[in-house]
Amino acid sequence: MDYTKFIARAAAAFRASEIRELLKLAEARKVIAFAGGMPDPQTFPREALARMAYEVILNYGDKALQYAPTKGVTVFRETLFRFLRNNGVKVTEGDDLIVTSGSQQGLDIISRTLIDPGDVIVTENPTYLAALTAFRPARPNIVGIPIDGSGMKTDVLEEKLRELRSSGKSVKFVYTIPVAHNPAGTTMSPERKKHLLELASQYDFAIIEDDPYSFFVYDEADVTRLKTLDQEGRVVYLGTLSKILSPGLRVGWMLGPRQLVDVFERAKQSMDLHTSSLTQYIAKEAIERGVVEETMEKAKRIYRVKRDVMLESLSENMVENSWWVKPVGGLFLMVWLPPEIDTRAMLPEALEEGIAYVPGSAFFVDESGRNTLRLNFSYPSVDEIRTGVEILGKLVRRKLGRASS
Ligand SMILES: Cc1ncc(COP(=O)(O)O)c(C=O)c1O
Repeated sequence: MDYTKFIARAAAAFRASEIRELLKLAEARKVIAFAGGMPDPQTFPREALARMAYEVILNYGDKALQYAPTKGVTVFRETLFRFLRNNGVKVTEGDDLIVTSGSQQGLDIISRTLIDPGDVIVTENPTYLAALTAFRPARPNIVGIPIDGSGMKTDVLEEKLRELRSSGKSVKFVYTIPVAHNPAGTTMSPERKKHLLELASQYDFAIIEDDPYSFFVYDEADVTRLKTLDQEGRVVYLGTLSKILSPGLRVGWMLGPRQLVDVFERAKQSMDLHTSSLTQYIAKEAIERGVVEETMEKAKRIYRVKRDVMLESLSENMVENSWWVKPVGGLFLMVWLPPEIDTRAMLPEALEEGIAYVPGSAFFVDESGRNTLRLNFSYPSVDEIRTGVEILGKLVRRKLGRASS
């Protein structure tokens, strides 16, 4: 049976990723997994979660197993407001919050409610791949702004904004991951944050701040949120418990101006009615009993060591002319290799040799970055990181030898 006749034309927007197909091979072959983005299962507070799940079902089962409001379980939303305020996120009178099924759903909601076909939106270049895949079905015109060790180059953004304005165009929103960027590992400097907010005011655009990582940084770093610095109510702040409790619970949130959150609520209603009430009740307990706090501390301890091992292994094994930014947090690091290296073409060989990574071009709006790759350091063990980076170094050196011969 040929099923194509049943499939809507719009479904073509959901493209299968060629890289994902390649990486499926990795799963079958048990290679060292630098490609994923999974937390270390050691960080999962399994016993505490098991106890809380049991108690929640037993004690609040009438509600926790029942339908809930689309914006989220009211008592959980109150807990979340407190949690965010206690962790330095400014919540104003005009703000509201909607619980989402992971922050990924927040990105989908943004795509469905804020983007008209042809709207200009801005992202860092590179940016989070699944944000691009969420935004693209709405057919925006995506402008990528380069980054360096201090995050998005806001001077380049300013130039672009001027250029757009002179051709009669405006930007709808800027999507940014200011802290421990996925994939680049960079963190936006206080000066750049200030500049971005000034530009938002001057050029009248909204800011989507995607912030899964600022709750557990490994070094001293200024993680003041754009949401906190914002004086005009321009920021929609996306967060998640995925990396500070468990991604399996699928609990995230969008915090922003009430008028926008009301629109997000209407969109979410038809998507899934509401995020699982059971996991919202469990998450509420986890925050109130300090389990999330403990998980953040554990994540810091475990990931700091892994990050440092990866940095050390990279300095020992990478060829001259390659660079990366030391991430203050998060799970990723991006390596820029010499321009002769094509990381997509190199991937099958890397899998042969026993390592998987994500070729960087997938994260670039314009498919540039062919000489970059993203490495995850949260999931592989310390020994795997050492061995894997050594394999990568040898492979790159061999490729360069071949490229120059
Ligand atoms: C920048 C960024 N945004 C959003 C997500 C989605 O996270 P979740 O849907 O699990 O909350 C991730 C996950 O890795 C991420 O790195």
